[in-house]
Amino acid sequence: MLVLKTRKGQKEVAVDTGLTLLDHALKENVEWGFSCTRGTCARCRCYVAEGRELLALPTEAEEDRLEPEELEQGFRLACQCVVRQEGNISVTHKPYF
Ligand code: FES
Repeated sequence: MLVLKTRKGQKEVAVDTGLTLLDHALKENVEWGFSCTRGTCARCRCYVAEGRELLALPTEAEEDRLEPEELEQGFRLACQCVVRQEGNISVTHKPYF
């Protein structure tokens, strides 16, 4: 189960491994701000509260765009972050502005 939280509320959706967090949001009609889908704008930035170990490691784009401390704290770019394994994941949309 993947819980996608935004300022407008939250939705529980089924995990589809191989898809990014943003793919899940778009597929399930969750209003998730994004722009570039290439890991540069950070509009899709999010905080992973649960299930970090079920996600693929940060991409090069995430390493470039996010500070090491942000990655360590659990911030990711939803357009880059692929779900690798089924399980409980909870993600909150946290753009900078
Ligand atoms: S949509 Fe631009 S970084 Fe994800």
